[in-house]
This record gives sequence, structure tokens and C-alpha cells, in this order.
Amino acid sequence: MRFFLALLGASLCLASPTPSASSFALQKVLSDASPVFGAYTKTNLSTASWMRNVPDSKLLVHMNLPGVHDAQTWNYSQATQDALKHVTNLDDNIVFPPEFYRCQESSIIDMLNSGIRVFDVRYAFDPTNSTLVFWHTEALMSETATVEDVLFGFYRWLDEHKSETIMLSFQYEGGTTSTAQDDAATQLELFRTLTTPAAQKYFLQTKDQFGTLGEARGKITLLKRFDLDQLPSSYSDALPGIHFSPSLWTDDSPDIALVYNTAKNLTAYIEDYYQPTSPVGLGAAYNIELKFNATTQHLVKASETYPDSLFWSFASSSYDTDTPPETPRIMALGNGTVTGVNQQLAAWLPTMKGKRVGIVMFDFFDTPGDLVQILLDL
Ligand SMILES: *[C@@H]1O[C@H](CO)[C@@H](O)[C@H](O)[C@H]1NC(C)=O
Ligand SMILES: *[C@@H]1O[C@H](CO)[C@@H](O)[C@H](O)[C@H]1NC(C)=O
Ligand SMILES: *[C@@H]1O[C@H](CO)[C@@H](O)[C@H](O)[C@H]1NC(C)=O
Ligand SMILES: *[C@@H]1O[C@H](CO)[C@@H](O)[C@H](O)[C@H]1NC(C)=O
Ligand SMILES: *[C@@H]1O[C@H](CO)[C@@H](O)[C@H](O)[C@H]1NC(C)=O
Ligand SMILES: *[C@@H]1O[C@H](CO)[C@@H](O)[C@H](O)[C@H]1NC(C)=O
Repeated sequence: MRFFLALLGASLCLASPTPSASSFALQKVLSDASPVFGAYTKTNLSTASWMRNVPDSKLLVHMNLPGVHDAQTWNYSQATQDALKHVTNLDDNIVFPPEFYRCQESSIIDMLNSGIRVFDVRYAFDPTNSTLVFWHTEALMSETATVEDVLFGFYRWLDEHKSETIMLSFQYEGGTTSTAQDDAATQLELFRTLTTPAAQKYFLQTKDQFGTLGEARGKITLLKRFDLDQLPSSYSDALPGIHFSPSLWTDDSPDIALVYNTAKNLTAYIEDYYQPTSPVGLGAAYNIELKFNATTQHLVKASETYPDSLFWSFASSSYDTDTPPETPRIMALGNGTVTGVNQQLAAWLPTMKGKRVGIVMFDFFDTPGDLVQILLDL
């Protein structure tokens, strides 16, 4: 409530002396979105508009783009889990400790201002099949922040940062509730959300092709890690963006070649080795090394092959079933004794000076604090 009043106060001071219903409505939407998007704040960080210095003619596939894996999880603590128990208790699924689900600790608005431009988010219906909300498997992130609400946070940010472009990867999250299905109702609601008049304004309306930064400034490229296979094909035909069909995305693989445009034979090269396949019990040091190796091998491949193709590498991982478990945080940041993938990448990335590494998706992207800047400085 205090936060909401503060927002209203800010809008009263900054906007016209008699705010319109539409400005009140936007504040209401952003307030609903805030458990996932974060409280909307302005910043003077130079990383908030780093693309200003990149020429319009630059191909998006030639850029080094910092990204975040499971962006929606940044505030998923024990307190959040407890606060949502009345909703998740409607279902039979067991929800594990919060550290198994949490992959970030700064809000999406902070990510944007810190220079992150590619976002991985996971959606499904709430337990009553009414609204599309954010999950990380059986962990619900918020009951007020719908997918549509959170999109308005991105839209507003783009209005204020017209030099920038964003890629949003939407993935249907299975296993959220015991009955969850990627059924026609789910797919129809997603289609509706991504084709509203606002979405048509802010999402690039091109299909299965990456263009130049100039064409994409002020816009969102939709990365479709979902199918609309329960709906007539006219729905898939009508939805813009790039289709990374889950049926083509090999699970837990360090080296995926995914054809997203068969007519033009356009292929994306992906590293998504999210859970080391080593036997249990080898420990954090071994598994972190395995993941660091998979990530750096893919970044080297990005620098040496297929210069005009998209490279998309995930530095994020976990091995929760290991004994002891390696949570996303331990894999990214280490366990106190051994350093994590992030620290090791911060030390290694400068060896790639002048090279294209493509999109790099981080967990806990802001540790160490200069990680994003190191990537941008290549
Ligand atoms: C983060 O989670 C805590 C605990 O549930 C909550 O009090 C706080 O309001 C959340 N932050 C935002 C921005 O929603
Ligand atoms: C940003 O603002 C802070 C205080 O609000 C100030 O200390 C800092 O110098 C500013 N940075 C730039 C780059 O303007
Ligand atoms: C939600 O949808 C699923 C799949 O269609 C169904 O099995 C389940 O009963 C529905 N739940 C509610 C509360 O309607
Ligand atoms: C498609 O592109 C890949 C990689 O550039 C190449 O190896 C393959 O031969 C191409 N296939 C066709 C049918 O052109
Ligand atoms: C971190 O993991 C290594 C093994 O990989 C282990 O030897 C060490 O005791 C662990 N440190 C902590 C604080 O758990
Ligand atoms: C990681 O790569 C290095 C260098 O190629 C190799 O020596 C090491 O055995 C690899 N580690 C694992 C865990 O596979």
C-alpha cells in the first residue's frame, strides 16, 4: 500500500497536475507486476543505454548480449514461498526449499538497467486455470503479477530507453501444478497476451529471422520456446518472433543445432547443459568445472564458426539431486571454498577480446559485479 501511494505520489508530481485514468491504470498494472518485474525505478547507470554506442547496421547475431536465466525467480525466498502457500496448497505438488528454484537476486528492472538484454521466463496457468503467471516448476512466483502485467514493465522501460532492444524468451513450464497441461486454453491465453494492441506495438512483427539493431531498437524480439500445437496452425502463422520449438531443443545438451527457419536453413547454436550428468557425489568443484568447460567450449565455437548464425549459451546450471546438492547459486557463485562458474567466466572472458560470443545467459548475473561489463567490453 505504501509503495502504491508512493507511485501515485510520483506520478502526481511528474505528470500533468490532473493525472488521467490511463496513468492511474498504468500505475496499477506496474504495482501488480512488481513482485516479478520489481518496483519501477529510474537510473542514470550508463549500462541502461549501452546500445546507444552500437551502430544501427549491426546484426543482432553479431552482438555479445548479456542475458539472464529464470529471471522471474529473483525474489523467491522462504518468505515468498510461505506467503503463497495458500495458493500452492490448492495443489498436490511438493514445493522444495526456495534455494532450489532461485536463480537471481536483482529485480527485472534492475537487470534492464544493468545492461541485461535477453530474458528467459517461464509461465503456466495459475492453479485455477485462469491467468498466466510465472513459475519455476512447482514454485509459484506471484499471484498478482500476470504475464501481461509484467510485459507492461518492459514496454514502459523501452519507452524510456529507445536506443535499446530486448529479447524475451517465453517457455511453457511443465510440472507447475499436478494437473498442469500446455493445453489449448493455455496456448490461447498466451497467444492473446502476445497479440494485444500493446504487444503489436512493442514486439517486432518479423518472423523466424534476426535483423539489425537499428530495426530492433525500442522493440522486443520474441523467442518462442513453446508450440501452439493445440490450436489451428493459423495461430502459429500469425504470431511473430523466432520459433525454438521445444521438440527440437535437445534436453540438457551442451551443443544443440536448432533450425528455426527451414525455408532459409537458419540454425541457432545453443548450449543448455543445465544439469551436469556426472555421477552423484563428485561435489561442487567437479560439477562447476564441467559446466565451465561446456560453456567456454560453446563460446569458443561462437567465436570460430558460423559467424552469421545465432549463438545462445547458458552459463546457468544446478544439480539439486547431488549429495550434497548444488543449487543454482552454488553452481554460479561457488560454495565458499571453490569459486563458481560466474567468477571463473569473469576471469576467462577477457581472453575473447574482439570476438563474437553471442548471447550468454547467467544465473546471479550481478555477481561478480563487473561480469556484465566484462562481456560488454569484449
Ligand atoms: C519480495 O518478497 C518479500 C517476501 O515475500 C515481499 O515482502 C516483498 O514485497 C517482495 N518484493 C517485491 C518487489 O514484491
Ligand atoms: C548518478 O547519480 C548518483 C547520485 O544519484 C551520482 O552520485 C552519480 O555521479 C551519477 N552518475 C552519473 C554517471 O551521472
Ligand atoms: C486445469 O486444467 C487441467 C488440464 O486441462 C485440468 O486437468 C484441471 O482439472 C483444471 N483445474 C481446474 C481447477 O479447473
Ligand atoms: C544448413 O546449414 C548447415 C549449417 O550452415 C549446413 O551444414 C547444412 O548443409 C545446410 N543444409 C541445407 C539443406 O542447406
Ligand atoms: C565445496 O565443495 C568442495 C568439493 O567440491 C568441498 O571439498 C568443500 O568442502 C565444499 N565447501 C563447502 C563450504 O561446503
Ligand atoms: C575441463 O577441461 C579441462 C581442459 O580441457 C580438462 O583438463 C578437464 O579435465 C575438464 N574438466 C572436466 C570436469 O571435465
